[in-house]
Amino acid sequence: MSGRGEPGGYDPRTQRTGAVMPDRKQTIESLEIEHRVFPPPPEFAAQATADADLLRRAAEDPEAYWAEEAARLDWMSPWEQLVDRSNHPFYKWFVGGTLNASVNCLDRHLAERADKVAFHWEGEPGDTQTITYADLHERVCRLANGLRSLGVGRGDRVAIYLGMVPELPAAMLACARIGAPHTVVFGGFSPDSLRDRIQDCECTAVITADEGWRNGKTVPLKANTDEALTECPSVTSTVVVRRTGGDVGWVEGRDHWYDELVAAQPAECEPEAMDAEDMLYILYTSGTTGKPKGIVHTTGGYLTGAASTHRYVFDIKDDDVYWCAADCGWVTGHTYIVYGPLANGCTGVLYEGAPGFPAEDRWWEIVERYGVSILYMAPTAIRTFMKWGPEHPAAHDMSSLRLLGSVGEPINPEAWMWYHEHIGGGRCPIVDTWWQTETGCIMISPLPGVTPTKPGSATFAMPGISADIVDEAGNSVGLGAGGYLVLTEPWPSMLRTLYGDDERFVETYWSQYEGKYLAGDGARRDDDGYYWFLGRIDDVMNVSGHRLSTIEIESALVDHEAVAEAAVVGRSDETTGQAIAAFVTLKGDVTGDEELIGTLRKHVATRIGPIARPKSIVLTDDLPKTRSGKIMRRLLRDISEHRQLGDVTTLANAEVVADIADMAESARAAGDED
Ligand code: PRX
Repeated sequence: MSGRGEPGGYDPRTQRTGAVMPDRKQTIESLEIEHRVFPPPPEFAAQATADADLLRRAAEDPEAYWAEEAARLDWMSPWEQLVDRSNHPFYKWFVGGTLNASVNCLDRHLAERADKVAFHWEGEPGDTQTITYADLHERVCRLANGLRSLGVGRGDRVAIYLGMVPELPAAMLACARIGAPHTVVFGGFSPDSLRDRIQDCECTAVITADEGWRNGKTVPLKANTDEALTECPSVTSTVVVRRTGGDVGWVEGRDHWYDELVAAQPAECEPEAMDAEDMLYILYTSGTTGKPKGIVHTTGGYLTGAASTHRYVFDIKDDDVYWCAADCGWVTGHTYIVYGPLANGCTGVLYEGAPGFPAEDRWWEIVERYGVSILYMAPTAIRTFMKWGPEHPAAHDMSSLRLLGSVGEPINPEAWMWYHEHIGGGRCPIVDTWWQTETGCIMISPLPGVTPTKPGSATFAMPGISADIVDEAGNSVGLGAGGYLVLTEPWPSMLRTLYGDDERFVETYWSQYEGKYLAGDGARRDDDGYYWFLGRIDDVMNVSGHRLSTIEIESALVDHEAVAEAAVVGRSDETTGQAIAAFVTLKGDVTGDEELIGTLRKHVATRIGPIARPKSIVLTDDLPKTRSGKIMRRLLRDISEHRQLGDVTTLANAEVVADIADMAESARAAGDED
C-alpha cells in the first residue's frame, strides 16, 4: 500500500499531525493526559433504545443480530440467505430478498405518520419549508415519474449536483424508487470534478439547480454543469431546480425545469422491486491516487446498516427533532440525513447555508426555533464555533438538546469538552462516531445510555461489528498499543466494490491482511479497550472532515503551465484538523512571486473545488528526494509541523531542506492570515 510507513495522521491527544504510529511508551504517556470518564446520565440510560443486553446478544450471535435488524425494514420478498461468504471479498447480504429504499423511507410511514414532519428546511436567505412524509412522498413520486418520462430507468446512473435544498433528498429517493443508482456530487466541487465523476460511471442524467446559496453568494451550479457536460456524451437530460432565479444557459431538448417536469406527473409512482444486492448508489471519495474511487453501496445491506445504527446511536424516539448538519454530498448526508432517519420515520432539520450567515449564531437560532433534540456535526465546525465564542450559543435557549454527535475526524478533547459544556449544557451524552464512506454506516461509537465516554475516544465497536488493531504483520496488538484499524468480519452496509474496478477494490482494502478489511486509519486501544483514532496512514488528508488525496492536489498543481513538480502534505490546523501545505518547483523560465502563488491556489480551487485550495504554497528550487527520486513527503511534513527532521541519510539532496524550512515559515505565516 502506498504511503505505508509515512503516516499522516492527526493525533487528537497531542493535536499533532503526522505522528508516526505510537510506540508503547508514547501511548501510555498520552493516556495519562486524558483520564476523564463520563458515565451515561442515569435519566438518559433509563429511557435509552440500546441497552447492554443488545450488545450481549449481538456479540453472541452477530448474524442473528443483523437478521433481526434487517427484519425492521419492509421487504417485498424475503431473503433466503443472510450472508453469502463464498466469494471473498465480494460478500452478498440478504440474498434473494427484494425491497425498495424509497418505500422504506416513505410509503411505509404514510399509514401512521403522513402528517409528521420529515424535514424542517431552512434556506440560507431565511425562507423555510415544512415537509411532511406525505409531501415528501408526493415530491419523490412526481420526480420519479418525471425521470422515467425522460427515459431514465432501472440501472441508469444519475448525477445529483445540488446545494442543500429539499429537492436533494427528494432526488436521491426518486432515483431509488425507479432503481437508478444516484451519484451525489458535492455542490462545492468544480466542473472538472463533476465531469470526472459523471464520466466514470457514465451517467445518463444530471439533476442540478440554476444556482445555490453559500455565504450570501451564489454558486453557479447550472453553469458548472454545462461546462462539465461539454465532455460527457453519456448525459442526455438534465433537470434544473429553480433556486435563485438567476440566469442560466439552456440546451433545448436536453435541459428541463424541475418544476415544469414534476407538475405534469402523477402523484403516485410504482416502485421497482430491487434485489437486496442491486446498487443503491455510488459515492466518490478520495483515495491514494489522483482518481477518486466510486464506492458502491447496495440496497438491502446498506439500508439495514443505516437504519439500525441511526436508531441506536442517536437513540431515536418518535418526538425527536434530529439535525445532522452535514451536506448530502458526503456519506454522512446519505446515511444520516436521508436513508437512516427517513427509514426510521424521524423528523429532521435541513439547513442550506453556511454556519456564519448572516451571523455567527445562525445554528443556535435553528436549534432554538425547531427545538432540536439531537445534533450531529463535525469537529471542524465545533472548533470554528469555539473560535467564535460561547456567547453565541449562550444567547439561545438550547434546552431541547439531549444528545450530541461528532463525525468525520478525530475530535480533540478540548473541542469535546467545549461541545459538552457550551452546546450540551453539560447534560447531553456525546457520541463520537467513527466510520467511512466505505463502511456505509457507523462502525465504532458509544451507545448513549450504555457506554461511558472519554473525550476524544470513539470508544467501542458497534453491535454486530468486529474490529481489531493489528501490526504490520497483521497480528492483533492487544490493549494499550497502536497499529492499523481493521474490520474482521463482513457487515451488511460494507462497500461491495469500487465502480468498474474490482481489482482496485481488492488491492486497496483486502490485500494487506488475509480476510480483513483495512480501513486506512491508525488507531490504538487504551487499557480499557477504548479506541482512539490517530488519522490516516496513507496519503489521504482530512481537511475540515473532508477526505482529500495529496496526489489529487499535486496533479492539479502540476497541471498548471508554470509548475514542474509539486508535493503536498497535510499539516495540523487548529480549526480544520489538517491544512494543505504545498511545495512547488517551477519550470526553468518562470519566476515565482506572490501573485503566482495566488494563481496556483486559485488553480487548484478551480480544478478540484474550493475545499482543496492549499493553505500555503512554498516555491522551492528542489524537493527533498531519495536517491531513487522519490519525494520524501515525510520530511516536508516535519518541516510543516516544526518538528525535528527525521532521518535524512537517504536524501540525495540534503542541502535543500534548510532552504525549504525557511521558506515554509514565511509561507505559513502568509497562509494563516486568510
Ligand atoms: O480517517 C477517518 C476519518 O474520516 C475517514 C473517512 O472519511 P469519509 O469516508 O469522508 O467519511 C467521513 C464521514 C464518515 C476515516 O477513515 N474519521 C471519520 N470519523 C472519524 C474519523 N476519525 C476519527 N474519529 C472519527 N469519529
